[in-house]
Amino acid sequence: MKGIILSGGTGTRLQPLTKVTSKQLLPVHDRPMIMYPLQTLLLAGIKDILVIVAPDHAGDYMKLLGSGRELGCRITYEIQDKPEGLAQAFIIGEDFIDNDSVCMILGDNIFEDDFSDTIKQFKSGGHVFAKKVPDPERFGVVKFNDQMEAVQIEEKPKSFLSDYAITGLYIYDRRVVEAAKQVKPSNRGELEITELHNWYLKRGELQVSIVKGEWIDAGTFESLFRAAELMRKKHLK
Ligand code: G1P
Repeated sequence: MKGIILSGGTGTRLQPLTKVTSKQLLPVHDRPMIMYPLQTLLLAGIKDILVIVAPDHAGDYMKLLGSGRELGCRITYEIQDKPEGLAQAFIIGEDFIDNDSVCMILGDNIFEDDFSDTIKQFKSGGHVFAKKVPDPERFGVVKFNDQMEAVQIEEKPKSFLSDYAITGLYIYDRRVVEAAKQVKPSNRGELEITELHNWYLKRGELQVSIVKGEWIDAGTFESLFRAAELMRKKHLK
């Protein structure tokens, strides 16, 4: 299993903080934000990691993470020139993914859960993770049937679909590269990851699990603060 951390974007919602640095390098309690998703991959036993960054602060990521040797992994880097969507990561990462499965995590997503068992047991298809939230309209949203099987997935639905947001951790087999190449830009000009979930869902090959512990997408002032608070509390325990 290969790992990708997608740390692109311009962080417009966090201006002026992101005028001088990248969103995913902002401090969350005692370390830069990206260290948390990196920890999630390392905890799951993933040792070969591609970090995809926006061009502006690429050097700072290398300064922070280096070769990965000190962290017990191998880190390589690619640039996403423009914020053209999450699904683009699999096109940028085509050579890196090669013939393996891949677990992608977003550089601003902070999880408490340990995903090692799921990641070790993964064989093929797609596996994504949902969490009940008070503000589903901010996210990709999944609707379940009575058996808790996913039946519909939509990106930032305009009318209410369900309370379950799809979090920023995705496991796919290598077909994801071909699937990503078929995705057309959405109205906001992005290759939406939701289209990839639907690619697998249509084929009956998408599994959706529920995240048990806390999950925070730290991309707003409010959630950035909550993330710092959560990590500080854990530290004091
Ligand atoms: C992205 C995805 C969305 C997902 C979210 C998780 O949203 O498009 O499906 O629920 O990450 O953090 P964005 O941060 O691009 O608005």
